[in-house]
Amino acid sequence: MQKNTLIDNDLYNTLGERWYTAFDDPVAVLRAESRVKAPWVLERIKAAFPQIPLVKHLDVGCGAGFLSNHLAQEGLQVTGLDMSEESLKVAGLHDSTGTVRYVQGDAYRLPFSNETFDVVSAMDFLEHVEDPGRAISEMSRVLKPNGLLFFHTFNRNWLAHLVIIKLVEFLVKNTPKNMHVIELFITPEELIKMCKSSQLSVQEMTGIRPRFSTLTVKSILTGIVPEKFSFKLTRSLKLSYMGVARKART
Ligand SMILES: C[S@@+](CC[C@H](N)C(=O)[O-])C[C@H]1O[C@@H](n2cnc3c(N)ncnc32)[C@H](O)[C@@H]1O
Repeated sequence: MQKNTLIDNDLYNTLGERWYTAFDDPVAVLRAESRVKAPWVLERIKAAFPQIPLVKHLDVGCGAGFLSNHLAQEGLQVTGLDMSEESLKVAGLHDSTGTVRYVQGDAYRLPFSNETFDVVSAMDFLEHVEDPGRAISEMSRVLKPNGLLFFHTFNRNWLAHLVIIKLVEFLVKNTPKNMHVIELFITPEELIKMCKSSQLSVQEMTGIRPRFSTLTVKSILTGIVPEKFSFKLTRSLKLSYMGVARKART
């Protein structure tokens, strides 16, 4: 179902090199979170596909390529797709392998044939579109039977509203209005249902939370995200969570 919101996805066109360098911006939180997400995803891909160089991976809403570039370094055949041409330029500049195929496009209309990819990922992406069910259905279309869909998003409840929207706005300098909107956050139950409608069965989910010990008084007072700020996995899916779903065999 499509919801009408004021989500600001244009901000990704303005970040430029700040995707990789800024500490006075919530993108620093995204970078820190990616350092936990990428190994979790890679570990599961390795377990499912022993022939890593043959794995075709599509990273939808890839932004500046935090996950795409990491997986390319590990030898996967990666395609990164995003709406934002500016972000894709930055992603390409940080692809040390020079192998990632960066494509500008819309997640609602993926420019790929049915059953092209072994793995698709949608990290910190589903809460940026107004019809995540439609995006998931497109991702399932381009996934091969038995392929994997990785996702990361935020749960929708009062605590997530407080911590992920209000606290970030309060603590991190340069947080744009409507970077996230609560209406687009997704409960795990809703995500499971959307996956099910697209022939995907969720296999595993885990929560992610900040290590509060890495926040300093200085960072709280200045609005700067400390370089050592980090995240860890948690059983609770109350706030930020990621998971993996498998497409049916036929
Ligand atoms: C929060 S960023 C996440 C980037 C990346 N996945 C990561 O985890 O670092 C969300 C990304 O989704 C992209 N995006 C939003 N709507 C899109 C759409 N309909 N199709 C493709 N990309 C979209 C934005 O341009 C932005 O780069």
